[in-house]
Amino acid sequence: MTTIIDGKEIAERIRADVSNCANRLTDEGVTPGLATVLMSDDGASETYVSMKQRACEETGIEGIHEELDSDRPAEALFDRIDDLNEDPTVHGILVQMPVPNHVDSRAVLERIDPMKDVDGFHPENVGRLVAGNPRFKPCTPHGVQKLLAAAGVDTEGKDAVVVGRSDIVGKPMANLLIQKAAGGNATTTVCHSHTDDLTEKLRRSDIVVAAAGVPEMITGDMISEGSVVIDVGVNRIDADSEKGYELVGDVDFKSAKERASAITPVPGGVGPMTIAMLMYNTVKAASLQSG
Ligand code: GUN
Repeated sequence: MTTIIDGKEIAERIRADVSNCANRLTDEGVTPGLATVLMSDDGASETYVSMKQRACEETGIEGIHEELDSDRPAEALFDRIDDLNEDPTVHGILVQMPVPNHVDSRAVLERIDPMKDVDGFHPENVGRLVAGNPRFKPCTPHGVQKLLAAAGVDTEGKDAVVVGRSDIVGKPMANLLIQKAAGGNATTTVCHSHTDDLTEKLRRSDIVVAAAGVPEMITGDMISEGSVVIDVGVNRIDADSEKGYELVGDVDFKSAKERASAITPVPGGVGPMTIAMLMYNTVKAASLQSG
């Protein structure tokens, strides 16, 4: 029997713990605060940011939301970030990516105070993660680590393949998987759009983390019998539903389920974990900043 890893349920447990910590900090006079900044007309980005704000409300975190028109100059965004860096009630700052083309995303990430960088994308925090001394683990890879642990998957000595090399998921995920700390010690291969013979790499792996952003590109025949499949992909494809689209992962769930020993669904797998770990990082940021 294949285990369907229930990210919603695992995320709820984590959020309950985080909420307790948030309430304790509030009782001590420090209400954790998260500022989200959206400079985009993209509907999916708007949805993600509003889900993050709703999660703040439900967790006892003070959410502040800022929007900038996407045709504003980059300086307007930098000025907003500077203000939030200075605001003592704001412990975490998240600028939803992607930002418009005329804004240099690296400059945006470097502008955020590394102590408030709850995404873990600032070069200082990336460096700390790679050095094995993370301050804020990026939310999605951290969520995947928690999912694997909750599903009882021991990564020690296993062959893992990460499909995708993004700064947000693929690269930090590979770093966490190779590290000694809990959820690590796996032999990790990173595959991407230029990889020769992806199937060969997948077939000799015990754990697959799919984060390529290509709808249903990994099918059941490409993976090994008994492997654990974590699907990070969230792809909108046209459908006749009320919304006009359907969400699918990077894995063809139906065929992969037949061969995997455990697999995450889309939606309801990794997605809720990303938000739970963002709440976790925000409370951690508040705790670090309150001394
Ligand atoms: N865009 C897609 N995923 C993320 C994320 O985890 N953080 C931010 N800031 N933007 C994103």
